Amino acid sequence: MDPLLALRPWEAPEVTSRGRLPMHAIDRRPGAVRLDGEWRFQLLPAPDAPLSGTWSTVHVPGAWTLQDTGDLPQYTNVRMPFPQFPPQAPAADPTGVHEREVDIPAEWAGRRIVLQVGAAESVLLVHVDGRPVGASKDSHLAAEFDLSDLVRAGSRSLLRLTVVKWSDASHIEDQDHWWHGGITRSVLLYATDPLHLADVTVRARQDGALRVDCRVRHAGGALPAGWYVSGELDGLPLVQDTEFDRANAADERVSDFLGEARLTATVPEVRTWNAETPELYGLTVRLHRADGTVADTSRHRVGFRDVTIVGRDLLVNGERVYIRGINRHDFHPLTGRTVSAEDMRADLVLLKRFGFNAIRTSHYPNDPALYDLADELGFYVVDEADIESHDHAHEIADDPRYLNAFVDRVSRMVLRDVNHPSVIVWSLGNESDYGANHDAAAGWVRRYDPTRPLQYEGAAKTGWADPSVASDIACPMYAPLEDCVAHALSGQQTKPLIQCEYSHAMGNSNGTLADHWAAIESTPGLQGGFIWEFWDHGILQRVSDGRPAGRAGAGRYANGVAGPGHRWAYGGDFGEAVHDGAFVADGLVFPDRTPKPAMYEHRELAAPVRIECYRHEGIVLGNHQHFRGLDWLAGEWELALADGRTLTAPAELPDLRPGQTAAVPLPFRLPPDGGEAWLTLRVRTARDEPWAPRGTELCAPQLRLRAPVTTAPAPAADRPVDVDAEGLLVHPLLTAAPVLSLWRAPTDNDEIGGMAVRWRAWGLDALVRKLVSVDRAEGRVRVLAEYAGTAGVIRHRQEFSAVEGGLRIDEQAELPAEFDDVARVGSVFETVPGLDLLEWFGQGPWESYPDRSAGAPVGHHVLPVDELFTPYLRPQESGGRHGVRRFTLSAPDATGLAVELDEPRQVSVTRFRAADLTAAAHHDELVPRPGCVVHLDAAHRGLGTASCGPDTSPAHRIAPGVHRWSWTLRLL
Ligand code: GAL
Ligand code: MG
Repeated sequence: MDPLLALRPWEAPEVTSRGRLPMHAIDRRPGAVRLDGEWRFQLLPAPDAPLSGTWSTVHVPGAWTLQDTGDLPQYTNVRMPFPQFPPQAPAADPTGVHEREVDIPAEWAGRRIVLQVGAAESVLLVHVDGRPVGASKDSHLAAEFDLSDLVRAGSRSLLRLTVVKWSDASHIEDQDHWWHGGITRSVLLYATDPLHLADVTVRARQDGALRVDCRVRHAGGALPAGWYVSGELDGLPLVQDTEFDRANAADERVSDFLGEARLTATVPEVRTWNAETPELYGLTVRLHRADGTVADTSRHRVGFRDVTIVGRDLLVNGERVYIRGINRHDFHPLTGRTVSAEDMRADLVLLKRFGFNAIRTSHYPNDPALYDLADELGFYVVDEADIESHDHAHEIADDPRYLNAFVDRVSRMVLRDVNHPSVIVWSLGNESDYGANHDAAAGWVRRYDPTRPLQYEGAAKTGWADPSVASDIACPMYAPLEDCVAHALSGQQTKPLIQCEYSHAMGNSNGTLADHWAAIESTPGLQGGFIWEFWDHGILQRVSDGRPAGRAGAGRYANGVAGPGHRWAYGGDFGEAVHDGAFVADGLVFPDRTPKPAMYEHRELAAPVRIECYRHEGIVLGNHQHFRGLDWLAGEWELALADGRTLTAPAELPDLRPGQTAAVPLPFRLPPDGGEAWLTLRVRTARDEPWAPRGTELCAPQLRLRAPVTTAPAPAADRPVDVDAEGLLVHPLLTAAPVLSLWRAPTDNDEIGGMAVRWRAWGLDALVRKLVSVDRAEGRVRVLAEYAGTAGVIRHRQEFSAVEGGLRIDEQAELPAEFDDVARVGSVFETVPGLDLLEWFGQGPWESYPDRSAGAPVGHHVLPVDELFTPYLRPQESGGRHGVRRFTLSAPDATGLAVELDEPRQVSVTRFRAADLTAAAHHDELVPRPGCVVHLDAAHRGLGTASCGPDTSPAHRIAPGVHRWSWTLRLL
């Protein structure tokens, strides 16, 4: 029997690999042969099932679950998709056999030939020409095998990669995302001289000290005499450390089978690396034979920087940097976990433009290209090992059968990524409880890389000050903000507090983000966190046959929306019996990377330049970066006046070092008329940055210069008010008269947080209106109605008064005590078709809500009605605009209606009733109404983050009692 199968490695956690080469930090191999493309493929029902003889093809790299093979993606969060207990795998265990011929280049004669499989889920078995080569687990790291003795240069070999989907390893890869099967990163072959660099480890410090440790091996066994290494850093020669060599030579334990050498240099006036100015140097290391010829070369990019923890501060180059982080999975809506370098660049460019400076590679080592990009564009990376045993966390954390796997996975990640300046912290994994296996892995890291802190959320078993060896950082997830602040003020804090996950971005979310940052920036000991998460993991799906669109879906989506005949699939959409629904769609960007409005909130909270205040000497500006001046930025002032004018003026940004402030003169003479006045500083890139062309807006800090003037109520007009027998307003442009609304299509936070359950129980989604009285007087009608829910009755009064040019509507709703904490209190009405343009004075232009409004400046905004709505994957409340003072809805011929509100209110204008949104599970089920559905809210509940984490703050909940609001409605 095949020895690889005989081992049954899919149910043997002790077996982490067989025949696999050690991991190393060298990943650039010129002359490598890429084996990506179409491979022959068979899907077997189990790893030991016989081949059927019928072959199809799949694209490598690529999950077979996205390539019409009959096996589909499945989404579960915590639950394992099969009931077997670790380390068992289910008997039905899809196994993909991938085969192709490989031509070994003739010029590789005499060289060492290595196969690299970038990633395979979850067990990889390798055969060449029918002969077993080896096996590997650890689904998100490469596996290498030495094929030198199995293939011949100049001839053709048959390569077979068998991938077993479910295994003992699945139990420690139980991350909250789609389950796939397949080879998800590139496969390649490369060759080296028998004498080769097995690894190169770079230490580059803030003070310019560079140390390069080389490990040298010879494929034939013992090293030939006389080899040496040389190196240079951007032209600066490195010197071989003779002290190190001498010590090695004198040490009789050092054999001829492993060569070690150290190169050093001190770079004068070194340009240090940090996320704002990611300065990199090019390093070349050469391994020479005794005669001086070069046997092997390795190139690296080097960033000089130190990471330390002093007291409870995490310091980069001595600076206490704020961690404006995001959790990122490798994700693509067509190819799943297979992502291209261009895609990753686009991810990181977007994150830079929205003020992020840190990435946690949740929850496994990401594609190697990501780290190169993070080095180059400037991100602090928390590199996380591929360990999450969520469903069986407690058993596995102390199970010695999994000990190898823990140490293997953590050490392989560190060995691969150790040279990246962007990696500032190692993470032992996610949601795996805490046990001896963690401490074993931690011990390995502490010895191998003492230059970086280590974190593990699960280590805080007895609290955030837990002295355990596994975490130098208190990195809780979704901790209530009050608890974080209390901890920082308690006198008990021993470690920096940086949340590994916070502000859950599922659907319409990220309420109270501004509260987090206000606390972080004012509380020593709090240093930031990583938002959960970057992606909405919607997979593009054909509606006709329910299959993933795969690569054929390219271009069939735009602006966050799946195109005709398609939808974004979430859990359950592939017919999975066990799944966790839309919980997989919880990111700040749509599956096509279109930013959600919450991104603008983050952008503003991360603003590099801020308006601190307005004093008589002028506007005080502050530089909120850690390392950069303001010379790379340009500004423009904008003054928005309530009368409709917007004035602009160029802004001269002062020359400020980080942390400095300076006053600049007020750029405008405030016109004596014009009412409420808002000053905005639009801050843009002054020149091209690697991640943003010149002129990219980065923030728009704002200051109110003048409060609104109270205007006299519109003069009454002597006209009748048309109200029907039901007490409903009759108006030429309204198809549904304004009525009371207390319901919103529940957001994911409302549903999962339990609010929507209460609201339904109270009957808020189906209030029954009963007219109580209509009281008609000259130019005025007063309507009293009762809205009955199951929990009680809400009295609602509307008073319609004819005023010059239209109507004034004064409303009052009395919520009995039972209706504590409703979704909204306000009016809803519907318009005739054709009013397709919204112009408003208020916050915008993007969507904003009471607890997510820091990033939407007050001004005059214009958008087509169809662009107001945000297509969250599971339809829900969306499209709101906060702080709206007035708006018009108009047709192309400029007819339409104008609404003026008594004070800044939450307004939404969409094509959907709340009931339409509530009833739909996906966007393709929604039919836009021809007219507009308009909500004017006296009160609107905050969004919070209760789908996973804290709800909104008490200030953003709606109390029972009397709510009053008034507005005028005029024809344009
Ligand atoms: C965390 C977990 C993440 C994700 C998130 C909820 O507990 O670490 O992987 O499940 O919750 O979306
Ligand atoms: Mg989990």
